[in-house]
Formats: sequence, structure tokens, C-alpha cells
Amino acid sequence: MSTVLYVAGARPNFMKVAAILKAAAGAPFGSELVHSGQHYDFEMSGVFFDELGIPPPVVHLQIGSASHGVQTGRVMAAFEEYVAARGEPPRGIVVVGDVNSTMACALVGVKLGIPVAHVEAGLRSFDRTMPEEINRVVTDAVSDLLLVSEPAGLTNLEREGVAPARVAYVGNVMIDTLVDQLAAARALDVAAGMQLAPRGYAVVTLHRPSNVDVPVRLTALARLLANLATKLAVVFPVHPRTLAKLRELQLEPMLTGAGIRLLAPLGYREFVGLIDDARLVVTDSGGIQEETTFLGIPCITLRSNTERPITMTMGTNRLVGDDLAVAMAEIDAIIAGPTERRTCAIDGWDGHAAERVVTELGRRWV
Ligand code: UD1
Repeated sequence: MSTVLYVAGARPNFMKVAAILKAAAGAPFGSELVHSGQHYDFEMSGVFFDELGIPPPVVHLQIGSASHGVQTGRVMAAFEEYVAARGEPPRGIVVVGDVNSTMACALVGVKLGIPVAHVEAGLRSFDRTMPEEINRVVTDAVSDLLLVSEPAGLTNLEREGVAPARVAYVGNVMIDTLVDQLAAARALDVAAGMQLAPRGYAVVTLHRPSNVDVPVRLTALARLLANLATKLAVVFPVHPRTLAKLRELQLEPMLTGAGIRLLAPLGYREFVGLIDDARLVVTDSGGIQEETTFLGIPCITLRSNTERPITMTMGTNRLVGDDLAVAMAEIDAIIAGPTERRTCAIDGWDGHAAERVVTELGRRWV
């Protein structure tokens, strides 16, 4: 039986490959996971394997952190060497999302003449200062099969002149994992365990270079959060790069002094359980815009653009750009507004996207 390789490297990849590997269990081809090691701390990687039942990777490339060029180059060199050493080439390579490992492995695959499929293809923020946007554009340009998660992906690929035969709308595999894990996440009663009242707190996540690497911006954001904490309890699981920057700028005392709970990065179920009971979420993540939309929890996105526009047109997401007065006004409006969740139905965000991914792979690669 021929083998398909799936690549995961960084935190947001793990919830995507979990769903695909599960759906691929009965496929007419073998499935093996490659871990690039872009994220390596237990809280950023191992916990997701444990909780989501992801099978152990067939290889761990141990890349670790580095500048973008070095990290991408190391993934390419190590992945190429691994594929060559396997002898028989894999039938195909599946990459997910938009991290450096995604682009690196797509490039290796296409150069070795191995078909590449990109899951979550076609998303565009149209902001080339974002490393993820470069990764998305390059990955889509070289992949044979583009598997799309939201309607904007189809429009973007069509505008770029991509042949329709390369494109299939499959829906959102990240939502598959959310659907699969939601009951277990709710059963944890995370908010109660933290003495937080349901709908009585905000959850914050921040990690984008544009927010955390610019000292004036991060300082302004810390003030915004301290202000928010005068109105609502605030829980902030802190990404490692953000923690390093907060420490560098000595901003931790301002946050903890305002009563904000700074936590280590949470496991998947704990995090989903926490946002599921929140009054609002403040974030710069891509995936959390989708998860809050599915759960019907208001989301304030601290960015000027989103590659996931359906979360704004149909979901609960509000982009607030650079103006933090706008962010505060939006937060106030949410606090003053209704507490009921507002869910919506988006085509293909139904818990079965990974099955459609596997069907497409089978159609083309078996
Ligand atoms: C990466 C992805 C981003 C994704 C994010 C989720 C790219 C270009 N960016 O950004 O799209 O939303 O992951 O987290 O691929 N670190 C640790 N432990 C780890 C991993 C990282 O301490 O397990 C620290 C390191 O100090 C490192 C920093 O976090 O320098 C940044 O990690 P990196 O993977 O390079 O990028 P992210 O900012 O996490």
C-alpha cells in the first residue's frame, strides 16, 4: 500500500492533522505523520498528541526555533533528507495551515516530484508583512491540490487564475476537532475550576510579531488589557514569545497588578472549555477567530486584516485594527450587549471536513 505523509510543525497544525489522521485510518493508503519540531515545548506540542490521540510521528525533525530563513531552510534540508532516505517515495505529501514548516515541506515535495496537497488553501490577508501570508501564497503556488476551508479561499484562488481542477472545497478540519472534543472540554468545567463565572470573564491570547515584537504596541496593548480588567476578569494564557517580550519590557507587574491571570499555554480541551464559557475573547490568532465563530462567542481581533473573512461576515469576529480606542469601544459594546451565544452555520464547518479531505486524496492519489 502506498503511503501519504502528513506534516505538522507548530501548535495550530496539530488540531488539523488530528482530524485528518483520524479520518484517514480506513483509507486505501497508509498515513504517516512527520513532526518538524518547529514547536517543541510540551505545552506547545506534546499535550496535543496526548489529548487528541495523534499517533506518534514516524520522524521528528527537531528543528526548533530560529529566524525565519534559518528555520525554513532547516526544515527543508531535514525533510528532503528524510524523504530521500525512505527509499520508495511517498504517494503524496499533505501540508496544513500557514506556518514555516508548511511552506518548507511543500517546496521539498514539489522539487522531488511528489504531489503535494495543501489543507486550508486560498486564505489571504493581502498583508505581505505577515510571515504566514508569504507561507500561504508560496504553498498554494506550488501545491498540486488545494483544499479550501472557507468561501473566500475559492474566490482568492479563482482570482489568482488557479485551474479549477486543482481546487476542492472541503470545509474546516479544525472545526472537526472542535466538534469531536467539545463535550470533553465542557466536562472539564475549566471556568468553575478557576472560580470564574460563566460569561463573566475575557480570554486573551497574543503572539503575532506585529503586536508583541514592537515595544510601543505591546505596551499599549498591556494598558488596554489592564483597562479591560477593571470591567471583567481577564485570563491570559501566554505564548512563549509573548512572555519573553513582556519580561523584556517589564510589563508583567502592570498586568498582574491589574488582576489579570497570566497562565502558561493551555492544553486543547482546557483552552476550548475556557473560551466556550467566556464573555469575549481578545486575540490575534487565526484559528481562534474560527473557533469563537463556531462557538458563538464574541471575538475581538487585534489586527487590521483577516484571511478568514467569513468569521466577520457570518461569525462573531470584529477586527479592530491599530486603534486601541476602537478596541475598547467594541469591548464595551460586547459587555453591554446580550450574553447569549450567537452561532451560525458555515458550509463545511460541520465536523466532517477531514473525511472530505481523505476522499479527495483517494480520488487523486489511489
Ligand atoms: C508560529 C507560526 C504562527 C502560528 C504560531 C502559533 C510561523 C511563521 N508562525 O509562530 O503562524 O500562529 O506559531 O503558536 O510559522 N517557542 C518556545 N517553545 C516552543 C515554540 C516556540 O519557547 O515550543 C518560542 C521560541 O522562543 C521562539 C518563539 O517562541 O523563538 C517563536 O516560535 P516560532 O515557532 O518561531 O513562531 P511563533 O511565533 O510561535
